[in-house]
Amino acid sequence: MTKSVLIFGAAGQLGVELVREFTARRAQVHPFTRRQIDLTDGAQVQRAIEQTQPDLVLNAAAYNMVDLAEQDPAGAYAVNALAVRSMAVACRQFDAKFVHFSTDYVFDGQRRVPYTENDPTHPLGAYAVSKLAGELYAQAYLDALVIRTAVVFGPGGRATPRGNFVETMLKKAEEQKTTGKPLLVVNDQTASPTYAPWLAARTADLVDLGQTGVFHGGGEQAVTFYDYAQLIFRAAKLEVNLQPADERQFRTPARRPKYSVLRNERMRALGLAPMPNLENLITEYLQGQ
Ligand SMILES: NC(=O)c1ccc[n+]([C@@H]2O[C@H](COP(=O)([O-])OP(=O)(O)OC[C@H]3O[C@@H](n4cnc5c(N)ncnc54)[C@H](OP(=O)(O)O)[C@@H]3O)[C@@H](O)[C@H]2O)c1
Repeated sequence: MTKSVLIFGAAGQLGVELVREFTARRAQVHPFTRRQIDLTDGAQVQRAIEQTQPDLVLNAAAYNMVDLAEQDPAGAYAVNALAVRSMAVACRQFDAKFVHFSTDYVFDGQRRVPYTENDPTHPLGAYAVSKLAGELYAQAYLDALVIRTAVVFGPGGRATPRGNFVETMLKKAEEQKTTGKPLLVVNDQTASPTYAPWLAARTADLVDLGQTGVFHGGGEQAVTFYDYAQLIFRAAKLEVNLQPADERQFRTPARRPKYSVLRNERMRALGLAPMPNLENLITEYLQGQ
């Protein structure tokens, strides 16, 4: 196990699980949150890595506001691409290994079978372009490990302002009690929701195995957001008037892939455990509420 680990984005959904997982595996963990560091300032990034002298840097920070990124592409690029470049440059300089997280949105969703690590990328908007640029920067200066994930949910999402899809659905169910209006959820976008504690554990496994290059780390269970909402309400034992909708009823500033299920081809080849059943994990998540 790596001895000293610096974690950027340590207060995010995935970040809190990485802190927990690497601490449990007896690493000396140095968590950095936005309160301590603005990652768009390259000098601050360099200083954090220089002062900590970690064996490994993990970057779980991101500008995740997919629609806002269309009005603020430079803001998304600063966090998702240029900050990653600062990290990679400093990791090379101070001989640290580097792990960075990316997204299923690097794909355009034209296929109907899960995407593997070898499939060509074609991002559809400012957020997705910035994340793909981050992947390239991560790998431009050293042999980084890049893990693409999707629709992340985890206990950290209960405390963060943006939360996650589970929290959004629970809030909408509560609102429905007063509005009485049906809850419309898109049924023509399919992805593979991913449980952050599982992803953190697989990340530590990949680090232990000395892996580099691009890996997929998604939940692998293909669901539309409507299906996902149904699973959430069933696990939460909530009666909700839920209705399927299509993307045209929710025209958002950003285009999104219609299908972005990830197949974890390289993890499978290494014999790493796939994510357990999604509904059981939603139940586990809800039990922690
Ligand atoms: N969430 C998803 O559904 C999803 C889907 C696909 C891929 N991913 C990828 O998975 C990784 C982890 O995502 P997540 O769900 O854990 O995201 P998250 O909960 O939104 O956490 C991201 C963290 O990054 C921090 N951050 C943003 N800009 C920063 C800056 N300029 N300086 C310092 N910190 C900054 C945020 O701080 P603030 O909260 O203060 O802004 C937040 O704590 C990311 O690479 C993301 O792109 C996520």
